[in-house]
Amino acid sequence: MKSIAIMGASGHCKVVADLALLNGYDDIVFVDKNPEIDMLGEYPVADEDTDLDYYIEKKYDFVVGIGEASIRRKVQEMLESKGVNIVTLIHPAAVVAYDVEIGAGTVVMAGAVVNPGTTIGKGCIINTSSSVDHDNVIGDYCHISVGAHTAGTVTMGDNCWLGIGAIVSNNIDICSDVFMGAGTVVVKNLTVAGRYFGIPARRLK
Ligand SMILES: CC(C)(COP(=O)(O)OP(=O)(O)OC[C@H]1O[C@@H](n2cnc3c(N)ncnc32)[C@H](O)[C@@H]1OP(=O)(O)O)[C@@H](O)C(=O)NCCC(=O)NCCS
Repeated sequence: MKSIAIMGASGHCKVVADLALLNGYDDIVFVDKNPEIDMLGEYPVADEDTDLDYYIEKKYDFVVGIGEASIRRKVQEMLESKGVNIVTLIHPAAVVAYDVEIGAGTVVMAGAVVNPGTTIGKGCIINTSSSVDHDNVIGDYCHISVGAHTAGTVTMGDNCWLGIGAIVSNNIDICSDVFMGAGTVVVKNLTVAGRYFGIPARRLK
């Protein structure tokens, strides 16, 4: 029996559960703060306040299935402080080059492509049909949304969100804490944290 506890109970968690199943986990439980939900799909939802310690004692693997980056970070840091095994999950239909380094708790969804020379931090979401090209350095707790793409030699700090269908051109540096809205096209370095939209990307003041 391979057991995993997925923190959260949202739509994103359902996708993470599917990923866990495809990675050989046959005992899957969600752990959430909302005690009113008992089941999500076919898997039980346990109460974080009362049941988390049980799954830690039983040596479950853990992953955080929370889309909102600041909460994902907070929950992963809480798990780290408890010394649990936080796993990286890669969909069998993702293409990840041989030398790519990926941090704990990062999930790589179906159809994603991560090319050689790239490093991805911990707690990231590399979402469905996105791509991260060669020699990228992606920080911790970033989200490369569905259908978003970064070209070669992009660096991205921590806690960045590249929205659905957004694009980052090659050789671009993006600082930490940058939100790039759906469909944004980034063609210049983003050196100031904030919310960026449009083609080319402009910061909302
Ligand atoms: C930023 C976002 C959350 C909307 O934020 P919001 O504060 O609710 O913005 P609103 O919908 O009120 O729009 C405010 C204005 O910005 C514009 N706008 C919103 N998102 C925009 C975008 N991505 N690109 C260009 N303009 C945008 C709206 O048209 C609106 O313009 P108006 O004032 O002239 O009518 C959303 O547009 C977005 O980009 N979401 C990303 C979703 C995503 O990537 N999900 C990942 C799934 S895997």
